Amino acid sequence: MASSGMITAEERRQLLDAARGAVKNAYAPYSGLRVGAGLLTRQGHLFSGANVENASFSLTICAERAAIAAAVAREGASMRIRALAVVNEAMTPCSPCGACRQAILELGPEAVVIFPGPEGLEERKVTELLPLAFRLP
Ligand code: THU
Repeated sequence: MASSGMITAEERRQLLDAARGAVKNAYAPYSGLRVGAGLLTRQGHLFSGANVENASFSLTICAERAAIAAAVAREGASMRIRALAVVNEAMTPCSPCGACRQAILELGPEAVVIFPGPEGLEERKVTELLPLAFRLP
C-alpha cells in the first residue's frame, strides 16, 4: 500500500469485495479485460460497476463510471464519492483512465482511489491522480 489511513481497513475491504464481485459481471468481449469498481458514498452506501464494451469501441463504459452512474441513480444529484476501488480479474496494474479520474473528481473532490499498482494495491487521493483537472470556467 503506497499510503494508508485515509479510509478504514473495513471500508477498504468492502470496496475491494464490491470491485472483485463486479468483475464477474463485466461485458468485455473485445479487450478481454474484465474490470470492476466498488464505490463508497459519503452517505455510507456501497455501489459497484463493471466495464461494458461495445462493437463501436468508443461507446465503451469503464467500470468506474458505471459505478458512479449506479450511485447517482440511487442517491441522486447530491451523491458524493468517499472512496472508489478499481480492479481487474488478474489484479494486474490498472489505475483509472484519465476520463474516469475527471469523472471521479467531479463528484468526489476528496475521494480516495484504490487500484493495483506494480507493487500491489495503491491508495491515492484523486487530486493526486489528476492535478489541474478541468473545471468549467
Ligand atoms: N477500463 C475500465 O473499465 N476502467 C479504466 O479506468 C480503464 C479501462 C476498461 C475499458 C475497456 O472495456 C477495457 O478496460 C480495456 O480498455
